[in-house]
Amino acid sequence: MNASSKKLAVTLAAAVLLSLGVFRFWAFSAEEKEGPEKEASAAEEDGGKKTPAPDSKPPGAQPQSVMEDAEATPVAPPPFSPGIFPCSGCHEDLDPNPTVRTLKRKHTNIVLEHDEKNRWCYDCHTQGNMDKLHLASGKPVDFSESYKLCGQCHGPTLRDWKAGEHGKRTGSWSGAKQYLLCVNCHNPHSPKFQPLKPLPPPVRPKDLRP
Ligand code: HEC
Ligand code: HEC
Ligand code: HEC
Ligand code: HEC
Repeated sequence: MNASSKKLAVTLAAAVLLSLGVFRFWAFSAEEKEGPEKEASAAEEDGGKKTPAPDSKPPGAQPQSVMEDAEATPVAPPPFSPGIFPCSGCHEDLDPNPTVRTLKRKHTNIVLEHDEKNRWCYDCHTQGNMDKLHLASGKPVDFSESYKLCGQCHGPTLRDWKAGEHGKRTGSWSGAKQYLLCVNCHNPHSPKFQPLKPLPPPVRPKDLRP
């Protein structure tokens, strides 16, 4: 080995050592960078379970949770007309007739005034099992859970109802509660309240001095 090739070998060795060192340093800092990030995301996952961030749920999750929450909601009995339930008493022997029409043989008091241009009886009642209502998905719902049916289209009202801001909730603030069903106040077939007629103003009694 002559002097110049010796010099080249040393330079090469130094270059290799240097680049190894640089690589090590780079790898180390990359590791360091990855470490805490990993921990942070793990902590987020963990903490997320206890206190979910406000926007960590997919949109639409809230009405769903309200619906599920209401699963155990104690409600007043459905306000049926006497003797009408079970509906199957008559309907077992009747062929379902989904035609939009004026009812003449029975239920003549029912006139649909509830988005009636788009809806008819079997959007809420169930062909083949009149004793149940059903959701848009087809899932059967008992008459004691009719608020779930209403909540499909009146979501904010269902949420307010559950929170005791709409309708009527009685019972203990921190304990058992009871709710009036939507249909205890709203006729499902014609839910709009009729405007109240204002009473005449009071008349001043004649024997009172002006
Ligand atoms: C928006 C949903 C909806 C539609 C549409 C609907 N109903 Fe109902 N209906 C209900 C609900 C909810 C009740 C339960 C009320 C209760 O719990 O007492 C009910 C109750 C009834 C009852 C029992 C009434 C009573 O006097 O106790 C009859 C009968 C009835 N519906 C027939 C019909 C007919 C006929 C149609 C079509 C012209 C119709 N419904 C359309 C939701 C609906
Ligand atoms: C006393 C018998 C009787 C009872 C009880 C009864 N229905 Fe009916 N229902 C009828 C008859 C009869 C018709 C057909 C009316 C017509 O075509 O004019 C009818 C029609 C209907 C219709 C219109 C759709 C169709 O297939 O004709 C719906 C919806 C309905 N009933 C729902 C109910 C519900 C809900 C209940 C229970 C809450 C109930 N009915 C209880 C006798 C009854
Ligand atoms: C499929 C959707 C749908 C379902 C299910 C539904 N509604 Fe409605 N509801 C509407 C629409 C649309 C309107 C507005 C048009 C109208 O008044 O006819 C309305 C109007 C109303 C109104 C009148 C609002 C006002 O401006 O005064 C009330 C109250 C109401 N619904 C209550 C209920 C109750 C109670 C139920 C359950 C028995 C229910 N709704 C189920 C769609 C729905
Ligand atoms: C204790 C009686 C009561 C109960 C229970 C009740 N409501 Fe109401 N609701 C009212 C009154 C009163 C109004 C106001 C009517 C008005 O201003 O004309 C109203 C108004 C509404 C309106 C019209 C829009 C608004 O918010 O002003 C909708 C829709 C409605 N209710 C849906 C529901 C649904 C869905 C439920 C069940 C989850 C329900 N209500 C339960 C009494 C009740």
